[in-house]
Amino acid sequence: MSKIILTGDRPTGRLHIGHYVGSLRRRVELQNSGEYDKTYIMIADAQALTDNMDNPEKVRENIIEVALDYMSCGLDPEKSNLFIQSQISELCELTFYYMDLVTVSRLQRNPTVKSEIQMRNFEASIPVGFFTYPISQAADITAFKATTVPVGGDQLPMIEQCREIVHKFNSEYAPDKPVLVEPEALLPQNEACMRLPGTDGKAKMSKSLGNCIYLSDPAEEVSKKIMSMYTDPLHLQVSDPGHIEGNTVFTYLDAFCKPEHFDRYLKDYANLDELKAHYRRGGLGDVKVKRFLEKIMQETLEPIRNRRKELEKDIPAIYEILRKGSEVAREAAAQTLSEVKSAMRINYFEDAELIRRQSEKYQA
Ligand code: TRP
Repeated sequence: MSKIILTGDRPTGRLHIGHYVGSLRRRVELQNSGEYDKTYIMIADAQALTDNMDNPEKVRENIIEVALDYMSCGLDPEKSNLFIQSQISELCELTFYYMDLVTVSRLQRNPTVKSEIQMRNFEASIPVGFFTYPISQAADITAFKATTVPVGGDQLPMIEQCREIVHKFNSEYAPDKPVLVEPEALLPQNEACMRLPGTDGKAKMSKSLGNCIYLSDPAEEVSKKIMSMYTDPLHLQVSDPGHIEGNTVFTYLDAFCKPEHFDRYLKDYANLDELKAHYRRGGLGDVKVKRFLEKIMQETLEPIRNRRKELEKDIPAIYEILRKGSEVAREAAAQTLSEVKSAMRINYFEDAELIRRQSEKYQA
């Protein structure tokens, strides 16, 4: 069986370092690994509209931002098919049919939907499109017969629900020869990457809280955000023992620091464990740890920033990449939709046997 990647993001803003460690970095590695037959990366504008129906301009404006962020991180249109969700109308058709396979109570139990409803204060008036977006996400994944979906931890319930839909579809409509493929989630390497907190230590990174470091932030901005980062409120003097847990600077180090960084920037320590041990013991100041983190972050972000500057010089070329990518994606989705419709017995005009049989019934 071929190995196929599909994943994507909602275009509601520029991408930040949470996206990077949660999934982007991994996508680029997978793309370059040569192990996958096909990689699809989708800008999920239709999904973004499910909770931004009153702000289509925001979604429209951010498509190019996400595309630029993708490519500056190293997603290469020669190797990965970049496309825009709304341009693939087959996804809507698939969603409509999958809706028959899912109950309202199952959607209500989806933990991601549940917490998002709370976050958006939707309780009293949930848009139906938003409520059912796990079904549309299953369409996104299955349309490309994706085997592998690299995502952050918050998306696990989506993949689980998708697998259930696939299972139900295949056993209901295609028991002998499965049409749809059950995908696997590919989660980030560690807990820190799974849920990178904001620079203020809050669990959720959000534009309105001003606690995110964006991939496109200028170097000075990155520096400022790191120097004002939340650490251990009980670590008042350098000599005091410090806490690692819930200390954002160390969480970021868990996500970004590699062994070679000590060699390059902090030779007094052999590895992160040693640095943590010293902090716990006392005698290690926050500023020193922050400076180290800053070097690592700048080293990571600088090439991304530079590539973005180059890409920004030819915006029409980026749209053209998305247009071509959407065409390719559409062909793949159309193929799956046709198999789905056959399995569901709604392919009347391709079924000469049906027409002959019905005709005989009346000619007899
Ligand atoms: N729900 C994802 C997010 O909010 C975006 C998304 C839409 C997606 N369709 C997808 C991710 C399919 C993986 C696979 O980030």
